[in-house]
Amino acid sequence: MALRLGIVGAGAIGNVHAEAALRNGARVVGVWDLHAERAAACAARHGATADATLDALLARADVDAVAVAVPNVAHAECAIRALEKGKHVLLEKPMAMTLEECDRIIDVAARANRVLQLGFVCRGSPAAHAAKALVDAGRLGRVYHVKCSIYRRRGIPGLGGWFTTKSQSGGGPLIDLGVHVLDLTRWLCGSPKALRASGACYASFGSPIANYRYVEMWAGPPRADGVCDVEDHATALVRYEGGLTVEMNVTWAMNIPDGAMKDGVFLFGDKGGLAFQIFGNDLTLATEEHGRIADVKPILEPGDALAHAWDRQYRQFLDATQRGVAPHASAADGRAIQAIVEAIYRSGREAREVEV
Ligand SMILES: NC(=O)c1ccc[n+]([C@@H]2O[C@H](COP(=O)([O-])OP(=O)(O)OC[C@H]3O[C@@H](n4cnc5c(N)ncnc54)[C@H](O)[C@@H]3O)[C@@H](O)[C@H]2O)c1
Repeated sequence: MALRLGIVGAGAIGNVHAEAALRNGARVVGVWDLHAERAAACAARHGATADATLDALLARADVDAVAVAVPNVAHAECAIRALEKGKHVLLEKPMAMTLEECDRIIDVAARANRVLQLGFVCRGSPAAHAAKALVDAGRLGRVYHVKCSIYRRRGIPGLGGWFTTKSQSGGGPLIDLGVHVLDLTRWLCGSPKALRASGACYASFGSPIANYRYVEMWAGPPRADGVCDVEDHATALVRYEGGLTVEMNVTWAMNIPDGAMKDGVFLFGDKGGLAFQIFGNDLTLATEEHGRIADVKPILEPGDALAHAWDRQYRQFLDATQRGVAPHASAADGRAIQAIVEAIYRSGREAREVEV
């Protein structure tokens, strides 16, 4: 029988969850949002019914699983309530606001014996998927250093809204975007244990909100009467067991000349190196072949890379909930990334390298 999904949080990403679920053979049966009109619109678009309260959605016997796509501040509460009601959960990133919240979610998931998968969707992009196969096949040898970045020139999401309000988001681009690249690179390298981190955070563009000029926007235009008390750029070096170092830069806003800095992931190993943009359509392996230094460009899955990533995430969630396969991005992964994020914030505050 098709998995019957409920959507918890019918905002931008809640709707993307519904579309991906439907494309991959699940049914979307219920939708809840704090704003009833958003739940109704999402439900109407995806052939579901809107539920008046979260309790009502979770009480439904015809809901097997939920996608939790609410602001970060509500991740733990919604995930825990869903697990306690016996629902499988696909939980958006970041796992929660704090490590303590992650531990509470993990504890409840273990007792509920339900699937808890994390929304680290970048792992499923065609480039990331190809990169993982090359790393696992040994084509890079020992990977000792990684660079990863997401740069936006002016792209503070919903400036003044929940993304830029620390009490609702937990932070800026580090907890928003950094979790994606930190998870992706850790996963590519075999999920080593993070030991120490050194980082810094900067806030240069968000306030006063009325002065902000932007070229790209996620989550609505700036709200002049809103709050911006989070960073807009974060940089870090993370040291892992075995000697791997990961250098990360994530920014919502920065004075970057047009096109000068490309997002991407670069892996450096003693046999080969890799470069790709997460949702780009190509990847290059720098290696030596037949005694010559060579660049190899494997052909990636054609089509929309973002849609491929979402499809893969949903196929994995279906495998986990219906066929007993271990969740692809686990709660332990979510917690590991949360620990790194907390260490980077702490390092920035204390201006020194800290233990993860
Ligand atoms: N996987 C990705 O690539 C990706 C991309 C963007 C956002 N996200 C994550 O998805 C989640 C939602 O982000 P979004 O961009 O869809 O946000 P959004 O603001 O568009 O949607 C959030 C929805 O949750 C509802 N909501 C439910 N409970 C709430 C509460 N307690 N407080 C406030 N609002 C509540 C809001 O009414 C809103 O409709 C976040 O955790 C974010 O980090 C993931």
